[in-house]
Amino acid sequence: MLIQLKNLTKTYQYHDGIINAVDNLSLDIPKGSFVTITGASGSGKTTLLLILGGLLRPTSGKMSYNGSEINLHNDDNLANFRSKHVGFVMQSFALVPYLTAIENIMIALNVKGNNTTENRKRALELLEWVGLEDRTTHYPKELSAGQQQRVAIARALANKPDLLLADEPTGNLDPGLSEEILGILKEINLKQKTTVVMVTHSPMAAEFGDTKIQLKDGKLHNLDSNGIKLNMKVLIN
Ligand SMILES: Nc1ncnc2c1ncn2[C@@H]1O[C@H](COP(=O)(O)OP(=O)(O)OP(=O)(O)O)[C@@H](O)[C@H]1O
Ligand SMILES: [Mg+2]
Repeated sequence: MLIQLKNLTKTYQYHDGIINAVDNLSLDIPKGSFVTITGASGSGKTTLLLILGGLLRPTSGKMSYNGSEINLHNDDNLANFRSKHVGFVMQSFALVPYLTAIENIMIALNVKGNNTTENRKRALELLEWVGLEDRTTHYPKELSAGQQQRVAIARALANKPDLLLADEPTGNLDPGLSEEILGILKEINLKQKTTVVMVTHSPMAAEFGDTKIQLKDGKLHNLDSNGIKLNMKVLIN
């Protein structure tokens, strides 16, 4: 099992109260699966994704990754975990505007000395993978939305993560481009065996997952029967 969540809770405090954004959630994510998370706005999807990626610590409960308990890591080790294992793709692409497509990928590479021939070669490989080898020196504003998202995916893959987390990766794209991006994510999942967890509002996009979960008020709401067949053990508390 790649990830095991056990009674995970994330509580936010705000001026006049507290909210359990993730509420006593237990979930196992097998290696190589493609998990899609849907649920209403405010149901805790982004919060859960940030915890999975080691960007946010749960208030209580446990998360283990490959058998090692992530919440026991100090900040340095957590940062190390992220850079070694996790790639993030966000709805807004988050590319650096004054760097070209290839440079946006090169700065993400975990290798010493950014501007090496080796890094350039790896970045080019990644751009080829997402079909943008003829756009390497374009700046983000010179790329279409779908192309920008493809650069963002290439960047997320720079360090060969075993876990790719995507928060509404098609939220800003029209249906045609969305399908293209979803196809790329599926290919990464199938060919590279990368585990993908994708948050989406779109029922069509959710269909790309082999395991579909739905959140409601920070809890698991229901699970597609496919998910159970595919050996996803879910404990609802
Ligand atoms: N930093 C924060 N401080 C206080 N409350 C927060 C914070 N971040 C999120 N929340 C609350 O936690 C709940 C879950 O938020 P989250 O962003 O995880 O939802 P979401 O399912 O991703 O929603 P959306 O679909 O709108 O992106 C919401 O009620 C939100 O208001
Ligand atoms: Mg969100």
